[in-house]
Amino acid sequence: MRTSPESFNISGMLKEKPEEKIEEIRAAAQAAFAKAPTAKELYDAKVQFLGKQGSFSSIMKEMGKLSAEEKPAFGKLVNEVKQALEAIYSEREEALKSGELAAQLAAETLDLSLPSNVGQTGARHPIALVIEEISGILARLGYSVRTGPLIEKDRYNFEGLNFPPDHPARDMQDTFYVDKEHVLRTHTSPIQVRTMELENPPLRVIGVGPVFRADSDISHSPNFHQIEGLCIDRKVSMADLKGTISFFVREYFGKDLKTRFRPSYFPFTEPSAEVDCSCPICIGKGYIGNEPCRMCKTSGWIEIGGSGLVHPNVLKFAGVSYPEWQGFAFGFGVERMAIIKYGIDDIRLFNENDVRFLRQFSV
Ligand code: DAH
Repeated sequence: MRTSPESFNISGMLKEKPEEKIEEIRAAAQAAFAKAPTAKELYDAKVQFLGKQGSFSSIMKEMGKLSAEEKPAFGKLVNEVKQALEAIYSEREEALKSGELAAQLAAETLDLSLPSNVGQTGARHPIALVIEEISGILARLGYSVRTGPLIEKDRYNFEGLNFPPDHPARDMQDTFYVDKEHVLRTHTSPIQVRTMELENPPLRVIGVGPVFRADSDISHSPNFHQIEGLCIDRKVSMADLKGTISFFVREYFGKDLKTRFRPSYFPFTEPSAEVDCSCPICIGKGYIGNEPCRMCKTSGWIEIGGSGLVHPNVLKFAGVSYPEWQGFAFGFGVERMAIIKYGIDDIRLFNENDVRFLRQFSV
């Protein structure tokens, strides 16, 4: 027995006022459709009234209880109301959806005047830039680049450069030995020997690339780079060497800088000279205002490399006929060239890959 007032005795009610009940559902559905704030909630309301388990389905189930005469009219009425509600639903759905789309478009508008996220771009490494710049200056004097192996034969790294076996001059370079006959090349000078063996004079060549020494502190790195020049011609003197290096210094560091030679020793040159140029940071003054220059430590001069006339033993070893052909050579540390020009105070920065450092050289 159904006694609760909530329980919906539809057949009882139908018998009384079926149109009224349907009218009631129509009004409730219409109100719910009108109230639904979003398409999602509208859809939920549709399911509630028109869905399989919805109000209309329950009414239809009760149809069986109607008399044969009542059935067609009732069915027609239900269909009409359902169609009308479907139409209201579709209209409302379209309105809500277009409103939502408009709101979404308004909310997601792109402000094309905002700066974009610029991706980080790479840049040439300062060592590559310095190598390119130095090679470019020497190219204007007719020099062209040669390279050689990083694991080098003792024959080219030492023997061909007039370092006899067990000679104390070998201690000038803290060498990484690979085996008895091979080393990680300690300098780019073996490229000189290889080139003279392969090519006929006259020659103007640049040897360039990484070199290795068992040495590490604020101004020494176990791997660094060298660049050197070799000129072989019929008549070559210290004056040619000095003219070439002076030209290079003025082009690379600045027009006002001077060059000076200090006597030195390298097994592969005779005579040999250490090359200094006026300190590019304080322009040779030793002080910047009243501050002592940290680069040259107030001397006004800075050492940039070694040089000399190619030793006859080196020419003979490589098969160049001496004294018909003579030569001069000079070599610089690439990191040092960058350090002096840009006032960098720690050689390790070149290998740390800190973009804040590297970015300062990008062009
Ligand atoms: N190879 C020398 C070194 O690493 C530098 C050097 C000195 C190179 C004199 C030269 C030269 O070409 O003539 O210490």
